[in-house]
Amino acid sequence: MVRKVLMICLGNICRSPIAEVVMVDTLEKANVKDVEVDSAAIGGWHVGNRADPRAISTLQKHGLKCTHIVRQIRKQDFSEFDYIFGMDEDNMSELRRLAPKDSKAELLMLGDFGLEKKNRIIEDPYYERGAEGFETAYQQCVVACAAFMKERLQK
Ligand code: 4NP
Repeated sequence: MVRKVLMICLGNICRSPIAEVVMVDTLEKANVKDVEVDSAAIGGWHVGNRADPRAISTLQKHGLKCTHIVRQIRKQDFSEFDYIFGMDEDNMSELRRLAPKDSKAELLMLGDFGLEKKNRIIEDPYYERGAEGFETAYQQCVVACAAFMKERLQK
């Protein structure tokens, strides 16, 4: 059975495209099949755009490619996806607010898998100068995606 994972952040240009690419890479390396991964935004400001150049170059530095085009979350995502991940508490409260009553998706915070409590928020690097915050987000995603895969997708 195919399982579907959706990564969400505010703009879908920084954290969630990184999380999407990292999750796909993690699954491929572990030879885990039948999982589809996508990402989307809470807000509509960047719809139709590519990811932030700093997200693309951070992934590139790690040998990964990001071709994602920004889209906004829609009602049917809550019935089509099994797991919808937010990156921080604001994302989580927005997801809970947007979720229809009959939502099938489990709403989870990505950093609750594999990361220490004090490090579990994947902070928004958009307004920071430089790409350091993108590398931090990437490293958090690597740990969290592997932990989630082991806990929920490899069983
Ligand atoms: P992201 O970062 O949620 O990690 O993609 C942001 C990108 C853009 C904006 C906010 C956060 N923005 O307000 O345009």
